[in-house]
Amino acid sequence: AKIHEHEFVVQATPVKRLCNTHSSITVNGQFPGPTLEVNNGDTLVVKVINKAHYNVTIHWHGIRQIRTGWADGPEFITQCPIRPGESYTYRFTIQGQEGTLWWHAHSSWLRATVYGALIIRPKEGETYPFTKPKRETPLLLGEWWDANPIDVIKQATQTGAAPNISDAYTINGQPGDLYKCSSQETTIVPIDSGETNLLRVINAALNQPLFFTVANHKLIVVGADASYVKPFTTNTLMLGPGQTTDVLIVADQPPSRYYIAARAYQSAQNAPFDNTTTTSILEYKSAPCPKKGGASSNKPIMPSLPSYNDTNTVTSFSKSFRSLRKVEVPLEIDEDLFFTIGLGLNNCPKNFDAKKQCQGPNGTRFTSSMNNVSFVLPSNFSILQAHKLGVQGVFTDDFPAKPPVKFDYTGNVSRSLWQPIQGTKVTKLRFGSRVQIVLQDTSIVTPENHPIHLHGYDFYIVAEGFGNFDSKKDASKFNLVDPPMRNTVAVPANGWAVIRFVADNPGVWILHCHLDVHIAWGLATVLLVEDGEGLLESIEAPPEDLPLC
Ligand code: C2O
Repeated sequence: AKIHEHEFVVQATPVKRLCNTHSSITVNGQFPGPTLEVNNGDTLVVKVINKAHYNVTIHWHGIRQIRTGWADGPEFITQCPIRPGESYTYRFTIQGQEGTLWWHAHSSWLRATVYGALIIRPKEGETYPFTKPKRETPLLLGEWWDANPIDVIKQATQTGAAPNISDAYTINGQPGDLYKCSSQETTIVPIDSGETNLLRVINAALNQPLFFTVANHKLIVVGADASYVKPFTTNTLMLGPGQTTDVLIVADQPPSRYYIAARAYQSAQNAPFDNTTTTSILEYKSAPCPKKGGASSNKPIMPSLPSYNDTNTVTSFSKSFRSLRKVEVPLEIDEDLFFTIGLGLNNCPKNFDAKKQCQGPNGTRFTSSMNNVSFVLPSNFSILQAHKLGVQGVFTDDFPAKPPVKFDYTGNVSRSLWQPIQGTKVTKLRFGSRVQIVLQDTSIVTPENHPIHLHGYDFYIVAEGFGNFDSKKDASKFNLVDPPMRNTVAVPANGWAVIRFVADNPGVWILHCHLDVHIAWGLATVLLVEDGEGLLESIEAPPEDLPLC
């Protein structure tokens, strides 16, 4: 196994998009940031040097961080932020994961521009469990704001309103031909007739689940979230933010240029959104050269995408996933947890300026919660540091295992349930315990497909469905034979998903919605997995350069 050393310089960089140049925060001046390529079993050592004027941390999304929670990255969860002018070295080993992951800033909305791909190939001498593709192309789907993304979320949290939606969707940082001032820079994916290309698709968008398709070509899904799946063929993918999907595409069409396209899947009702399409181009090398000036005969072929609210396509897609490798899904459960996930509206508190700070619907403030608790990040300590040092007053371990009140989660809900309490509440789990979490969407404000991401673990998605989860009726639908293993589950709008895992990685792990506006509103909680008895069941000592608050 190799050790890969990198330096990430976080800095303000001029970036031109949609006709204007902006000062964006990037890594090493690149947007999107550098692609990291490793083999399963390798170690990554990344020194992050903060030359920007914001606090920053980097999260290695989907990396299990077995016993190395200090390298996980979410600010105030496993570390204090790296302040301007300071640096921190993340060091971790990839253990048993293969496929596509990514890295991103985990501080405010910096990840709008601070993100990149993390590709994990099989161990040296080992091969993919499918025919080796001739080429591989990472495709990062993103969102672009003309405004400074940090200002967008600050403004929203101060006013209590929803933030402005983005100005473009992007593929590898480029909006593509359908946006103004963008067609010169459209991402080109080369392919040759007969060739197979492995597309590593990553949804790095902040707030938007996305459909993804390629004109006239089938997509063979072979992996997701760095786990292999039994191959299946589809025309369209749906990725919630945080999710990755690996697909093989075979160049079996007449040599030409075909659009690769992504557009919003909008599960929330009555919410403003952008229904424009971002494109890149699959270009056969033997295709006739495109004429400059864009004669229409030379335009790439456009695919059709599902309609923006096509939940049926989403459901049949997500139900196609089966783990390829033998699974070790726990059959018995020690910890049976039930978390509601959803939005809310807090009444304007008395001491607030209603004109400025309560700009949500009818003079309220947007909020979100799990089990009616809105998560508040600590500000003077990370939870992991507080846990290891025994510092009191940073968090409490009384997060409810079930919602405080049972109600019709998908129906019309009483106003009293719209008032989450605030807190930094965690769930303590014994090392090695077998955990099941039911994630239940609520229709408070709106039903919505929430991409729920757990740090430090891959989990099995044993079932998903619509309506209220019913433990008697729905247990018969559990797939305990070959459920997919993922780190982010797109919980159906007006529905639920059930995940299982063994708590075998000690540390402090945030479980949150990967729609970033929902993190700001509190749609998060923390699982604190205690050390086991053995030395190898304990988290390692913290690195010496760990940033303190
Ligand atoms: Cu990709 Cu906590 O995030």
